Amino acid sequence: MRLDDTCRWSRAMLSIVANAVALSLPLSFVGNEAAFARAPVQTPVLTASAIAVADKYSADAAQQIFNEGGNAIDAAVAIAFTLAVTYPEAGNLGGGGFMTLYVEGKPYFVDYRERAPAAASRTMYLDGKGKVVSGMSLVGEKAAGVPGTVDGMWQVHHRFGRLTWKQVLTPAIQYARQGFEVEPQLQQVREAEEKHYEGKTNFSRYFGALKAGTTFKQSELAQTLQRIADHGGREFYTGRIAELIAAQTRGSKWITRHDLQQYRAVWRQPIIANWHGYQVITAPPPSSGGIGLIQLLKMKENLRSRFADVPLNSPQYIHLVAEIEKRVFADRAQYLGDPDYYKVPVAQLIDEPYLAKRAAEVNPKAPSDTRSVQPGLGMVTAQRVSRVTANERAETTHYSVVDKWGNAVSNTYTINGYFGSGVVVEGAGFLLNNEMDDFSSKPGVPNLYGVVGSDANAIEPGKRPLSSMTPTILTRNGKLALVVGTPGGSRIFTSVFQVITDLYDFKMPANEAIAAMRFHHQLLPPNTIFWEPYRPIEGELAQQLQTLGYTLERQAFNGDVQLVKINGDTPEPVTDPRKRGVARVIR
Ligand code: DON
Repeated sequence: MRLDDTCRWSRAMLSIVANAVALSLPLSFVGNEAAFARAPVQTPVLTASAIAVADKYSADAAQQIFNEGGNAIDAAVAIAFTLAVTYPEAGNLGGGGFMTLYVEGKPYFVDYRERAPAAASRTMYLDGKGKVVSGMSLVGEKAAGVPGTVDGMWQVHHRFGRLTWKQVLTPAIQYARQGFEVEPQLQQVREAEEKHYEGKTNFSRYFGALKAGTTFKQSELAQTLQRIADHGGREFYTGRIAELIAAQTRGSKWITRHDLQQYRAVWRQPIIANWHGYQVITAPPPSSGGIGLIQLLKMKENLRSRFADVPLNSPQYIHLVAEIEKRVFADRAQYLGDPDYYKVPVAQLIDEPYLAKRAAEVNPKAPSDTRSVQPGLGMVTAQRVSRVTANERAETTHYSVVDKWGNAVSNTYTINGYFGSGVVVEGAGFLLNNEMDDFSSKPGVPNLYGVVGSDANAIEPGKRPLSSMTPTILTRNGKLALVVGTPGGSRIFTSVFQVITDLYDFKMPANEAIAAMRFHHQLLPPNTIFWEPYRPIEGELAQQLQTLGYTLERQAFNGDVQLVKINGDTPEPVTDPRKRGVARVIR
């Protein structure tokens, strides 16, 4: 019996059990307790299901899955596979991510982050003189970590899905086989990025035809998805797809079949913190995002007297938030990495007295000297102060899903930069990530997002690179309140923080909170505030910040937030006007 058959069998049992319970039949009729444990019968607690996703195709896929009786987990898996087809700049099979879940009133977290292959080594991106070789961790096969998305989806569906695995893959297979109409934004991104891969990868051969208004078909990708549907998620790691990945990277002695066989997504304890009467459920290491988010929220709370009457996004507001961000990024650079390789002091970093002490270091009047802001728990190492240019080529995608039974999925996944490494696995039709760039290639040298790291995030075989992804769920008295997240590299958790603050501290309607200005500071470059064209920092606001001592730097965008807010028993999905997302209520 193949894996999927086992799965289908147990799911068939589950629906028998569910129906039996709904009809109040004696349970002895349907089998054992283990089967029952996986067959929760839930009564609707919300008026509808709802989604906020990155494109219209994944919205349609989710709607189809809900119409077939699927739950939030089924919809989330269908969205992931669909975006791998219709949103190739970030949706993926060849990358990884994090999923925060709330299922039947309990929080869960799945880490399906990429891992460094066994061939990786600490100094692999340095030249003979010990200097980082520019672009080596960004373009080409050696930029890619061992992908985690398929195992993540496989595991989460196996544990909580209601529909069959084949059902949730069906929309993606159809989009790959029959094609989808390319949206203008996708053509623009393709055109902007293609030059990075010219003469270096096979990108153009696969994606050069992405033109607005045309139908884009991907027959190799359709076959890959069909294989995954037929044989289960492990096909990607042990079957024909694994062979194709290994063959693709054989010339550069990189990802092997053994690396793929070894890969497993990991269930971890999410970070959970109380804030303003809410439980914030968010991403633990190897993300820095959850710790960063809690530090930001709690330090701001500690400084409430300083924030009192300070208008949102005024010079003083931006200054105070930047002061907090300085401390958060000093800790991030020093203490955060893969918890499987480095003991991350999670509890200390979000400890209330520690954060009160850190908040008290904030200078309310002027920017603290960057060199004086050190990691707060000791063991300080020197950090080179370097200047980086604004990040113009980065992509990831987030989606938020809520079902009418009160389950929720907050998922952020990525191939890192737009179209990842630019390498397509020949015969399989999907892009490999460039997540290796999220490691610290050398202490103190900034990566694509301008963030630095230390030993905690040094490259080691099998290790997961440090992330900023922050898929987050807020509950209140055990009930769903908010599902939120965004792409944006190191801007992710500062963006999630700003949206949460706008919603709950400033009581903004959700559509205004998501559209509001977002700015970013990250300790390095010194006293630099990044702004975005969508809601620029300009005129008097810019002048006042410059007078305070800040440098202003333009960045392409500051996230693509997708959220579902729950008002009473009614979900309100909202998509970020910055990109091509779709928010939909599904009854
Ligand atoms: O894991 C991380 O933090 C990054 N690789 C995410 C990349 C990202 O969000 C790019 N999107 N703009």
